[in-house]
Amino acid sequence: MTRRSVIIGTGSYLPARILTNAELAATVDTTDAWIVERTGIRQRHIAADGELTSDLAVAAARRALEAAGLTADAVDLIVVATATPDQTFPACATVVQHKLGMTTGVAFDVAAVCSGFLYALAVADAMLVTGAARTALVIGAETFSRLLDWTDRGTCVLFGDGAGAIVLRAEEQPGTSADRGILSHRLHSDGRYNDLLFVDGGPGSTGTVGKLRMKGREVFRHAVTNLAAVMTETLAAAGLAAADVAWVVPHQANLRILEGTAKKLGLASERVVVTVDRHANTSAASVPLALDVAVRDGRIRQGDLLILEAMGGGFTWGAAAVRW
Ligand code: UT7
Repeated sequence: MTRRSVIIGTGSYLPARILTNAELAATVDTTDAWIVERTGIRQRHIAADGELTSDLAVAAARRALEAAGLTADAVDLIVVATATPDQTFPACATVVQHKLGMTTGVAFDVAAVCSGFLYALAVADAMLVTGAARTALVIGAETFSRLLDWTDRGTCVLFGDGAGAIVLRAEEQPGTSADRGILSHRLHSDGRYNDLLFVDGGPGSTGTVGKLRMKGREVFRHAVTNLAAVMTETLAAAGLAAADVAWVVPHQANLRILEGTAKKLGLASERVVVTVDRHANTSAASVPLALDVAVRDGRIRQGDLLILEAMGGGFTWGAAAVRW
């Protein structure tokens, strides 16, 4: 038998306020047609004043716990992936822990920007399979609207706010590629590309939060290649191939990246879960948000093989193969 981390519940939360492309076109030099054609994005959600990343995370976590049939006292590990914590410290995860009424367990953040959820998942999986924890909340939550330069049309049209969460539980499985749960994951980073996607401030440099800056075309160029490679590597590590995949649950940065990556693996675009049109790029929240959408609408069924993938600032990128 092998100990595996099994996803037993998913949840998500989007702020009520929807910002459409047409509204953005009234404030910056852009058009709905340009945004839809180049990115697939039609709208994004924006957190209300006073609505914090931890609030979004807690709302998603409560839904995931409800789906798992658990209460917060069953959780002994919280990992939050975020680049937009409420404060520089404490970790957003400890704020979430407190808001969920928990006083025990381990809670910490991971920072890998848009790949953050894959990093958080890999860390939580490692702790579960080694017995360091038994039931984990893994959350991606972001309020990227607060990092945007709303006068820069090259970036402000691309991002939105939201949160997604899963409950992971350690379970004994037979130890084959037909097991339920996380079968493999692979992470990569390459800091040579720090200056292609970054925030121009921080507590240790400017003492300010800063604004997001991106050389979009160059990020795009790396994305399809890196993502296709890490997906292939992750599937091979589990003794699987692209033909075994039922659903790709990708980071939602740009519809052209989603389709280009699937095509490179020979996967039909119908196999790709797409939410970028409604949610835009929610950074670390985008993979668990997309997962929750496809679980709740019934597309993802027991036994399906999923491949989760993301790439973001750093660069960082990664993938996970998960049997539902
Ligand atoms: O989540 C982390 C990973 N991030 C990503 O994966 C983002 C990757 N990059 C992208 O998705 C795309 O590169 C963008 C959507 C950011 C840009 O699309 P593109 O097809 O690469 O366009 P571009 O940057 O090459 O710009 C083409 C033109 C430029 O005008 P000129 O120089 O050709 O006259 C831009 O100034 O489009 C212009 N442009 C815009 N026009 C209208 C840039 N942004 C806009 C805009 N509205 N919002």
